[in-house]
Amino acid sequence: MGKGHIEINGVTKIFRRTDGSDTLTALDNIQLDIKAGEFIAFVGASGCGKSTLLRLIAGLETPTIGNILSDGEEITSTSEKRGLVFQDHALFPWLTVWDNVRFGLKSTGKKDKTELAEHLLDVVELGNFKKSYPYQLSGGMAQRVALVRALANEPDVLLLDEPLGALDAFTRMNIQDALIDLWKERKNTMILITHDVDEAIYLAQRVIVMSPRPGRIVDDIPIEMSYPRNRSHSAFVRYRNVILEKLNYAHEESIADFSI
Ligand SMILES: Nc1ncnc2c1ncn2[C@@H]1O[C@H](COP(=O)(O)OP(=O)(O)OP(=O)(O)O)[C@@H](O)[C@H]1O
Ligand SMILES: [Mg+2]
Repeated sequence: MGKGHIEINGVTKIFRRTDGSDTLTALDNIQLDIKAGEFIAFVGASGCGKSTLLRLIAGLETPTIGNILSDGEEITSTSEKRGLVFQDHALFPWLTVWDNVRFGLKSTGKKDKTELAEHLLDVVELGNFKKSYPYQLSGGMAQRVALVRALANEPDVLLLDEPLGALDAFTRMNIQDALIDLWKERKNTMILITHDVDEAIYLAQRVIVMSPRPGRIVDDIPIEMSYPRNRSHSAFVRYRNVILEKLNYAHEESIADFSI
């Protein structure tokens, strides 16, 4: 089996207020197996613990109960094996595109990685923009640079927290295609958080629906469509309706719980 297998075993995450007066269960008993090379997406209302789960997988936080294994080893800290891309691309404004990508490369096998970085910039159609500075790029171009920068390190797992959230619909669709190209090329595990149900269905092999207060998995839906997917295909529309209904139901349940 390839690298990038993530096992989430009974993970609960409880945050405490700094004065210890109150607690908040951000995630409640999450159980999930993510296969090596799988493209998985998480959708759910704001506050259902998606970013918390991603931060736990990254090794930026530790579970209160349970554990997460990365290729069989418990995650206790961050690792180059798990790359992260956030909504805010955070390129260095004083560096060119090429230096931004190179700056992020870890020293091991740097030559190979430089070649890979060059190739990946071509894949996302930014080969001619190596000498540009971030201020000369559109938001979508900058976000593609951020994706290349993360992937050039050859992470086994790429963690994406609403990486396209700030972009207009058209740019978003372009980068979704670039993301599929990058994934097919690298065959790494992709873990995507998105508010956009269509984006989840367009990209992922499996969509996890979460509910808030406390954050739980309410559904696990395999998307059985070949790539590239057609957003107006009847199967696509069916998945959209099913997921929206689950989200709506989860939302109503959480409001009902809240008012007791
Ligand atoms: N460091 C922290 N300390 C205390 N509470 C936190 C902390 N991080 C997250 N939380 C709480 O945990 C819950 C889940 O937060 P999280 O950011 O994971 O949600 P999310 O699903 O990513 O939401 P969104 O869609 O708005 O990004 C929220 O109620 C949040 O207030
Ligand atoms: Mg979040």
